[in-house]
Amino acid sequence: MNSPNRHKPRSLSTNLFLVILLSTNLLTFLLSTTFYSSCNLTSSVLAATGRTTSTNYVPSTTISRDEFKRSDATEDLPPEFLAFTSGQPLPYGFNTNFDSDTIFPPVGSSCTRFPDDLRHFMTYSVNGSCPDDELLAQKLLLRGCEPLPRRRCRPAAPPNYVEPFPYPTCIWTTPLDNSVVWTAYTCKNYNCLINRKHRQKGFDDCKDCFDLEGREKSRWTATESHGSLDFTIDEVLATKPPGTIRIGLDIGGGVATFAVRMMQRNITIVTSSMNLNGPFNSFIASRGVVPLYISISQRLPFFDNTLDIVHSMHVLSNWIPTTLLHFLLFDVYRVLRPGGLLWLDHFFCSGDQLEKVYAPVIESVGFNKLKWVVGRKLDRGPELQEMYLSALLEKPLKNSW
Ligand SMILES: *[C@@H]1O[C@H](CO)[C@@H](O)[C@H](O)[C@H]1NC(C)=O
Ligand SMILES: *[C@@H]1O[C@H](CO)[C@@H](O)[C@H](O)[C@H]1NC(C)=O
Repeated sequence: MNSPNRHKPRSLSTNLFLVILLSTNLLTFLLSTTFYSSCNLTSSVLAATGRTTSTNYVPSTTISRDEFKRSDATEDLPPEFLAFTSGQPLPYGFNTNFDSDTIFPPVGSSCTRFPDDLRHFMTYSVNGSCPDDELLAQKLLLRGCEPLPRRRCRPAAPPNYVEPFPYPTCIWTTPLDNSVVWTAYTCKNYNCLINRKHRQKGFDDCKDCFDLEGREKSRWTATESHGSLDFTIDEVLATKPPGTIRIGLDIGGGVATFAVRMMQRNITIVTSSMNLNGPFNSFIASRGVVPLYISISQRLPFFDNTLDIVHSMHVLSNWIPTTLLHFLLFDVYRVLRPGGLLWLDHFFCSGDQLEKVYAPVIESVGFNKLKWVVGRKLDRGPELQEMYLSALLEKPLKNSW
């Protein structure tokens, strides 16, 4: 991850942090899309129109510049930002589902902390083309401006886009270079990404993962399983009655090989990813599985008790502030259905942290432990005393509340 496009040199842990965030940001898109395109929204608005009443504590219909000033002392928020986020009156008036007559489109709470970047992001000609500013957008998002505000412009797109390879060819074929806008990346084609493992020094969890002929070919299969930390997909699925693991999420799922393997077992997995030093989201989509552009900071855009499985390899680890990790694990518990599985795949930390910090944090959430395997992590040298934990955790089928 030696991208000159990044503004500061990064430490190993920062790189890791980026890899993780990279993998998790897809959800933002889904979240906002789902909310706004929902037919339910329209029908509930309509349903409510017959019951329009005046209520004393309905918020006023506009949120002004003053509102933002109060919280962030920001004078000059861009007009497009205000156009998006300001309260907009519902055309049919008061709605009991909203308990309001106004809709306030959401953005991340930190957006206004970075007024300069926000101004760049929200300055464009309405109805025109957006600036080609993926790095800026991602930087804002990673700093908590998540979800990003919507924009009224057309995003940068490859000039000579070609349609993806048809299924099933797409699953294990490197996509064509003109399916990607390369501006944000050091590499300007897939060949460069595939070969960077030979050039690049230092720790990067995903530096070889664009190579579909390499390690990706055997991940989570019996051929790759080198030790007890490496569970295979089939042994995990075997803990449940056949066919009952159907839908799930892979947090920070790299190039989505996990989702691909699950698809080959008729299981639908959404893969969250950031685009850290590579077009992960485009690549995942090209393989024919769903990328979700959301960071690990954001609330998962799924309802309670819905998913059969959540998987995360390397991403949930000690680079995440402990309080955030605690919130995150509870959010995973929330979205898993009773009996659902959290496969914590190679969680890493230093030896004493596991016992003192992370085991108690994980245990506090309330999962049953189906598997709990601890081993040494040696790739950066034994002197660092690093540990891996691979665990298969189950949300209790009964009394999970
Ligand atoms: C953009 O298009 C909408 C819909 O046609 C129009 O109402 C609006 O005036 C346009 N805005 C600009 C800045 O051209
Ligand atoms: C996936 O579903 C198809 C269609 O129902 C079926 O023919 C196939 O055997 C299934 N594959 C697996 C691995 O279950």
